[in-house]
Amino acid sequence: MEKKKGGFTGSLGFVLSAAGSAVGVGNIWRFPYLAAQDGGGLFILVYLVLVLTFGFTLLTTDIAIGRRTQKNALEAFGSIRPKWGFLGKLTFLVPALIMTYYTVIGGWITKYITVYMTGQGAAATQDGFFTSFISSPVSSVVFMLVFLAVTALVVFFGVEKGIERFSKVVMPGLLVLIIGVGAYTIMQSHTTADGTVRTGLDGLAVYLIPNFEGLTFGRFMKILLDAMSQLFFSLSVSMGIMITYGSYVDKDVNLSRSIGYIELFDTLVALLAGAMIVPAVYIFSGTEGMSSGPSLMFVSLPKVFQGMGPVGGIIALAFFIMLGFAAITSSVSILETLVANCMNIFKTSRKKMCLIIGGISAVAATVICMGYNVFYFELTLPNGSPAQLLDVVDYVSNSFLMPLISFLTCIFVGWVIKPKWIEEEMVASGHKFSRKGLYSFMIRFVAPVIMAVLFFQSLGLVK
Ligand code: PHE
Repeated sequence: MEKKKGGFTGSLGFVLSAAGSAVGVGNIWRFPYLAAQDGGGLFILVYLVLVLTFGFTLLTTDIAIGRRTQKNALEAFGSIRPKWGFLGKLTFLVPALIMTYYTVIGGWITKYITVYMTGQGAAATQDGFFTSFISSPVSSVVFMLVFLAVTALVVFFGVEKGIERFSKVVMPGLLVLIIGVGAYTIMQSHTTADGTVRTGLDGLAVYLIPNFEGLTFGRFMKILLDAMSQLFFSLSVSMGIMITYGSYVDKDVNLSRSIGYIELFDTLVALLAGAMIVPAVYIFSGTEGMSSGPSLMFVSLPKVFQGMGPVGGIIALAFFIMLGFAAITSSVSILETLVANCMNIFKTSRKKMCLIIGGISAVAATVICMGYNVFYFELTLPNGSPAQLLDVVDYVSNSFLMPLISFLTCIFVGWVIKPKWIEEEMVASGHKFSRKGLYSFMIRFVAPVIMAVLFFQSLGLVK
């Protein structure tokens, strides 16, 4: 079959590529640490409800806008209503911000690949290994640059087919490893110096069972904001990326079903990753260890791998390599969006734009790396979480900008062009729009109100 340029091969190609962008370090690094920080079960419950309501609504909106307008985010809104063109520009800010720190995490993963390649797995279990790595100004930058260079090369040579090929092999492999390591972790136990025994099953219970004890309104709102920020980040919604993906989808693809698969897959990977990491943290560091934030995965997993004996090193290597691939497919989708849009704005070639944006990203990411050494500070975010530079940028993009963008998008779709505009696109292929009623209720009433509240909360105005 003859394909249009940059298009996907049918539904499967689309689902896999969109899942390739969606599944990344957000699922395996960010989700578990937020779940742990927010005490486990309750966060999971809130997140699941959000995926089925908000996640579905936002993903549907982005993808349908993309397919109907056949344009990327920067132009899509303006092409529907010229006055709303500003929203396209606003969405563009998010991938630009995320790009600055995504490659930093990619660098951390690259570091752990080399650690296990060179057989230093035992060293990685030492307390302080991770901290001393990120606080050394040179090595964290070097690894970040390696990761960024690989990302930029993929984009430099043009990507969509590459993304598809990557995703097909990596996703299932990663999932198998996560399940395997998770099952192993849950069967472990650890006796602390004072004789307390902590088992993986207890850890799993902390992870899954909601604990309402001492729940205050303020704490619930923090969990809600965290879960929502995670939802945006993980599904890659409200940042224009899914609009672009939508514009590549053939008209005969069943959007409703494809969206269901993307939600399901993205959430499944996150849940399983949490079930692998949170019990491990609990076993080795108890509930006190759960608040450690971004370092969580890098500190706890090496201990699990070490406990597996000689095969542990090999499994660890396979895990970090696959995680590296999942991270690359996501970072490629971010850089691709930036490059494709800037090519349009500045009317230059892909290669030139890729070099320029790659260069700017390298500088910005270097500054973020320095947030753990040269520019180290300790700040408390309006939501009460402790933060370094990376967390601040993450907060601005995911907790502050995204609710704002979503709010505006809901007003635009729900009240300016009306949900019918989206519904028409959802049924354009001749398939049913299965959650139509939910969609129009969410986009008109629920989502705008909640997004507005979260936006004010992210500023610290709602307590
Ligand atoms: N959704 C990706 C993840 O979970 C991250 C991402 C963010 C990808 C923004 C594209 C755009 O890791």
